[in-house]
Amino acid sequence: MKKTALITGASGGLGLSFVNIFARDGYDIVLVARNGNRLEDIKKEIEEKYNVNAMVVAVDLCSEDGAQKVYDATQQAGLNVDVLVNNAGFGDFGKFYKSDINKQIRMVDLNCTALMHLCHLYIPDMIKNRKGNILNVDSIAAFQAGPLMSVYYATKAFVLSFSQALTRELKGTGVKVTALCPGPIRTNFDNTADLGESGLFKNLKVWDPNVVAEFGYKNMKKGKSLCICGFVNKIIVFANRLAPRALVRNMVYNLQKVQ
Ligand SMILES: NC(=O)c1ccc[n+]([C@@H]2O[C@H](COP(=O)([O-])OP(=O)(O)OC[C@H]3O[C@@H](n4cnc5c(N)ncnc54)[C@H](OP(=O)(O)O)[C@@H]3O)[C@@H](O)[C@H]2O)c1
Repeated sequence: MKKTALITGASGGLGLSFVNIFARDGYDIVLVARNGNRLEDIKKEIEEKYNVNAMVVAVDLCSEDGAQKVYDATQQAGLNVDVLVNNAGFGDFGKFYKSDINKQIRMVDLNCTALMHLCHLYIPDMIKNRKGNILNVDSIAAFQAGPLMSVYYATKAFVLSFSQALTRELKGTGVKVTALCPGPIRTNFDNTADLGESGLFKNLKVWDPNVVAEFGYKNMKKGKSLCICGFVNKIIVFANRLAPRALVRNMVYNLQKVQ
């Protein structure tokens, strides 16, 4: 039986790496992002390369009805979504009080609300089928406060808490939820987040998106509820749990400030 993976943020970065991995392994793909032309090109490429079927849903997931439009499109196509990859997301660098509030609100809409809404739409169908996987792309940002990227870190803390709670609620249903927590990745993220001269990408190892996606995919297949990509990132997360909060937020501030 063919399986279908729905991937948000499929037009580039980590999402495109997921697209290639799932298609390589024979999944039909639902490609979701705003850039419809780019998605159509990717659809053609993967259909030819991997002999799978792909469907394009060009939608702004920051809009109130974005997640519903995605669900309706898959329903109309008669598709059963076996894997939901909630990958679309972005950040913003700088002091919160100086930031564009509309960008912050859109970030919460995308990183939190759309992710939550898509889970709410697809989980009942997965429970009926007694199987399904949700892969929520989180970040090591989830584990502490992030001065100079305050809202982004808070959105990722939401994703972690929400994913962990779902894992417990869905025990015994056949539906598994995995939160993937990487550190910096070489994508368009730093441009969208205006990271500019921030020390974040200079102080930490920047990962290849294909390596991160493969790691998340393997852990999702194993049914892991949480996976942190990279030994150093694991140490950072572990040390954060032991260190005083004031010390941790000072360290994050110093790591991220302009250098
Ligand atoms: N890169 C990193 O350092 C890093 C580290 C940890 C976690 N992450 C997480 O990884 C995920 C993927 O980010 P990335 O690094 O691959 O960034 P990216 O290269 O900027 O890709 C973001 C993707 O999201 C889509 N997107 C953005 N706004 C959207 C909207 N309103 N509606 C629908 N789709 C939208 C973009 O496509 P369109 O522009 O076509 O809509 C694009 O496909 C995010 O959740 C991010 O928080 C990234």
